[in-house]
Amino acid sequence: MSTTVFILNGPNLNLLGQREPDIYGRTTLAEIEAQCRDKTQALGLTADFRQTNHEGTLVDWLHEADAAGARAVLLNAAAYTHTSIALLDAIKAIGVPVIEVHLSDPHTREEFRHISYVGMAAAHTVQGLGPQSYIQALEHAAQL
Ligand code: DQA
Repeated sequence: MSTTVFILNGPNLNLLGQREPDIYGRTTLAEIEAQCRDKTQALGLTADFRQTNHEGTLVDWLHEADAAGARAVLLNAAAYTHTSIALLDAIKAIGVPVIEVHLSDPHTREEFRHISYVGMAAAHTVQGLGPQSYIQALEHAAQL
């Protein structure tokens, strides 16, 4: 089985650190990436860490993870979580298990964040733990 875990990040997550710090904290995406690299190394895995602001790019990357035979995908689709049937379909279309990740807990926030199209097809969800959500999701990926 491949050791590669794709860690895919959606829109506005490039602004972590300065973006609504009361909700998302002060940790930057580069710092989360470094934490994920340390964790994957400790688990004997390899991280392919990416961010895009474009929905179709996330779809393409899910297909790419499948074609590459990745062990798992961690997906923080950000706002597309709550809107994207294309992401739901892509997750259903691929064989790689997708673990949904969120820094905040969308269920404690506005009602429009309570629906998760990603969660409808994801194998597992980790949310509300800040950057630690990624770390717990990697621990889950290691056990797959
Ligand atoms: C988020 C939660 C989403 O509701 C929001 O649109 C984001 C970030 C999170 O990580 O907490 O952009 O996915």
